[in-house]
Amino acid sequence: MISEVKKLPITYLDECLAVFKGDDFNDRYNGQVLDWVKTGIRKNELWGAITDTGEVAAIMWIEESGFFHEYPYLALIGVKKNYQGQGLGTFLLKIYEAIGRTLNKNKITLMVGDFNTRAKSLYESMGYNAIGKVESAYMPTIGEFIMIKKLD
Ligand SMILES: CC(C)(COP(=O)(O)OP(=O)(O)OC[C@H]1O[C@@H](n2cnc3c(N)ncnc32)[C@H](O)[C@@H]1OP(=O)(O)O)[C@@H](O)C(=O)NCCC(=O)NCCS
Repeated sequence: MISEVKKLPITYLDECLAVFKGDDFNDRYNGQVLDWVKTGIRKNELWGAITDTGEVAAIMWIEESGFFHEYPYLALIGVKKNYQGQGLGTFLLKIYEAIGRTLNKNKITLMVGDFNTRAKSLYESMGYNAIGKVESAYMPTIGEFIMIKKLD
């Protein structure tokens, strides 16, 4: 189904925005998720999983030294609604990890909202540990868990 995973140029912007259509994740952050997608793609840091028919099924924004200017930070990950629950999120997280290893980093990081229990369970199952929670980190009513996975 997925034929390639690559950094996406700005020409893919509309398709990347479409990943979050109909997903209440964007509403939770007052529509800001779409702006994050725009920023990530403009900075040439947005990766996409492309199906064999050329559709963008999922995206992730990797800031290679986004955590303390040193460790990779997964600023955003999203799988299109109709592709969720089929292993694609897991697959992209494995690629994120591989990128971290290629960069010779011994930690990779991300944050997840406290409402997003499914995503948090997924990260935990892949070896991430929550090292702390920041209340009202961005949205007044959402606490964000800082999660780290150690690479050996
Ligand atoms: C979180 C997200 C990226 C996961 O991607 P995904 O492709 O759906 O995840 P996977 O199919 O790899 O599933 C991974 C695990 O999630 C859980 N999961 C999957 N579908 C589920 C469902 N319908 N209900 C509950 N848990 C589910 C399972 O634990 C699953 O593991 P399994 O292989 O044992 O079933 C995706 O749901 C998404 O884009 N959500 C909206 C945006 C978002 O929340 N991003 C994260 C921001 S931090």
